[in-house]
Amino acid sequence: MSLLALIKGKRGASGFGFASTAEEVTEGLDLSGQTILITGINSGLGQESGRVLSQRGAHIIGLARTQKKAEEGCARLSGPTTAVACELSDPASVRAAVDTIKASGQTIDVLLCNAGIMALPELNQSNGYELQFFTNHIGHFILVTDLLDCLASDGRVVMLSSAAHTMPYKEGIQFDNLTGDGGYSGFRAYGQSKLANVLFANELAKRFEGTGRSAFSVHPGGINTNLGRHMDGPSNILFPLVGWIGMKNVEQGASTQVYVTTSPDVIQHNGAYFADCNVKAKSAHGQNDEMGARLWQVSEEIVNALGGASA
Ligand SMILES: NC(=O)c1ccc[n+]([C@@H]2O[C@H](COP(=O)([O-])OP(=O)(O)OC[C@H]3O[C@@H](n4cnc5c(N)ncnc54)[C@H](OP(=O)(O)O)[C@@H]3O)[C@@H](O)[C@H]2O)c1
Repeated sequence: MSLLALIKGKRGASGFGFASTAEEVTEGLDLSGQTILITGINSGLGQESGRVLSQRGAHIIGLARTQKKAEEGCARLSGPTTAVACELSDPASVRAAVDTIKASGQTIDVLLCNAGIMALPELNQSNGYELQFFTNHIGHFILVTDLLDCLASDGRVVMLSSAAHTMPYKEGIQFDNLTGDGGYSGFRAYGQSKLANVLFANELAKRFEGTGRSAFSVHPGGINTNLGRHMDGPSNILFPLVGWIGMKNVEQGASTQVYVTTSPDVIQHNGAYFADCNVKAKSAHGQNDEMGARLWQVSEEIVNALGGASA
């Protein structure tokens, strides 16, 4: 057996590993009666997570940039769904989604914050902030903090991060350059946004201590989805190469987030970072509580300046 096959076949303490699929990690689970919100329901890992969680009986609140995309994504699932438009780079759209969900009166068991963009070659901004930071972090920050009223007393928040959280700018979060105007690298900015996802989950987990709620961050692996749509130049060569060595298919790629969303075993690891369906070490920045607390405060300031919480 080759070394690669050995690594891919390896399983960790959870009993699952690199090659486990979302169906496998939920085998035997009955999720009927549970409501799970998923951002990015129309594509890639969000769609596969929705498919499997729905197959296990959960009611899925499926969010996508537009109502049409949310409805199309939800229509491909087998169980009950609620489709909601939520453009994460537009605070008004996120707040409208929150208002719609709150008005439905549903209690949410898991907020699976899956949507994201990666490595835009040129600097793009929303509301004056670098677009990956704003979409991947600030959009989800508004969504989650505004929906905490609807989260079950034993509810979970699952943040899709990435191994790229280990490769942000040298100082981690560039608090003095959140606009990107002071210098921009597509991959570093993606790393920064994914570090923000880890730090946000850490800080949420601390705030949840003793409440029954929990929060986690996840690296799904390398999966050939639409995420790579913005890549150009050397990445076009590098990525297929990395992919050949360590790529998962979408069924395997969705397993870690679906495992963390559903497994009773993860609750004991409140605040942990998971990859290949097992707890993994975070980067040094990813364990920096001071940076996490500052990020929360700065995020609140940004959000308040943009109009505060939804109704
Ligand atoms: N694939 C990988 O190798 C990999 C590795 C590490 C981490 N991840 C993380 O996994 C998550 C899922 O990615 P994926 O691989 O499934 O990629 P994907 O197929 O491109 O799906 C990303 C989803 O996010 C949505 N999205 C993007 N920008 C948005 C916005 N402004 N507002 C609302 N929704 C938005 C997309 O909607 P549209 O289709 O409308 O654009 C799509 O539904 C991401 O957070 C990514 O960072 C993926």
